[in-house]
Amino acid sequence: MNNFTYSIPTKIHFGKGQIKHLNELKENGNKVLLVYGSGSIKRAGIYDQALEILKDNQIKVFELSGVEPNPRIETVRKGVQICKDNQIDMVLAIGGGSTIDCSKVIAAASLYEQDAWDLVIHPEKIKGALPVYVVLTLSATGSEMDPFAVISDLTLNEKLGTRAPCLNPTMSILDPTYTFSVPAKQTSAGVADMMSHTLENYFNNVSGSEMQAGFSESILRCCIKYGPIALKEPDNYDARASLMWCSSFAINGTIKCGCEVKWCIHPMEHELSAFYDITHGQGLAILTPVWMEYVLNEKTASRFAQMARNVFMIQELDDLKAAQKGIQALKQFFFDTMKLPKTLREVGICEKDNFEIMAKKAASKCAGSFVPLTQKDIVEIFNRAF
Ligand code: NZQ
Ligand code: ZN
Repeated sequence: MNNFTYSIPTKIHFGKGQIKHLNELKENGNKVLLVYGSGSIKRAGIYDQALEILKDNQIKVFELSGVEPNPRIETVRKGVQICKDNQIDMVLAIGGGSTIDCSKVIAAASLYEQDAWDLVIHPEKIKGALPVYVVLTLSATGSEMDPFAVISDLTLNEKLGTRAPCLNPTMSILDPTYTFSVPAKQTSAGVADMMSHTLENYFNNVSGSEMQAGFSESILRCCIKYGPIALKEPDNYDARASLMWCSSFAINGTIKCGCEVKWCIHPMEHELSAFYDITHGQGLAILTPVWMEYVLNEKTASRFAQMARNVFMIQELDDLKAAQKGIQALKQFFFDTMKLPKTLREVGICEKDNFEIMAKKAASKCAGSFVPLTQKDIVEIFNRAF
């Protein structure tokens, strides 16, 4: 295990009724920018609940609505303008990963003189941010408890992640009942996303991190148990609660401590979204098994076999055979049980014209991953996923 520093500064209030903790915003001022998407928070009644608590605490609310799935830099800029014009004290995101990520970059760019896109392409320029508060409504990205934000400029076909310790939310409210209304498509994409985060961390080359590996296997088993229940019974509290906590821990740093992890499937998926604006979790579900089959060989088999035995309970002594059965079981879970799309064509990517340029960009971002991938390898993975 390598050396590491571990700090998760986000305070979590987990469970039913925890929205009452929005009163804590007053510790940071009395003007908030409320950021949300296309209106699901209004339909679910969360918007009204939040406004009432903010009003009771004499907090003045400014609003930015319409954050897109795969949030755009243009929307970030609108939020920054509101913050700068009104001396906003803090940002409150109510929604899923897109709303939270948009809020994080608004919070940082509000304290930055130049254009917000600079902070996406140059994370080292982020020197501070307004406090970010979150009410989570979709279990998937883990943005509620991590320092990352992913923003797109579709005019440039760019979707890029930025990061800074000050982007960690100050406080996040995780009420599983707020995810009862998440539709099946987003529920399954969310499960694929949190499983992908876990797997990206799990497949590393550092020995001696058994606690982290065991924790990852537990997250994966939990997703496999509760994902299908959440699809069948959207208001099953235990299923939604378990998925919510899995989504936070898949990416909050715990399972990658000391593991020197470099992700490779996310950079490939971000290119798919940058060029074709697809749903993040669906892209990951398509690419992950293809990547697994592509990199599986005698040398890599033991980690795949460990996944097969400890996550899918496959009883097979030979590592290579166990690994193959494990990948098969993952495919069955994604495509048969969770009804996720299997191919790029199923999500509307019907031509291969951009594969070379997408692969070139992805290859530059995944150097040092579990198995090194070249541009040629990634083109082949896209082709097999087609
Ligand atoms: O627009 P609204 O009304 O919010 O509706 C959303 C949206 O249409 C809807 N939704 C959310 N909560 C709901 C709900 N519908 C009904 N009931 C609810 N309770 O779901 C749709 C998708 O929302 P979105 O926020 O886009 O989904 P997700 O949470 O999956 O976020 C995806 C974005 O996060 C990035 C992805 O790349 C993508 O841009 N990621 C962020 C990461 C991070 N910050 O750490 C890491 C991830 O790997 C990922 O890259
Ligand atoms: Zn992800």
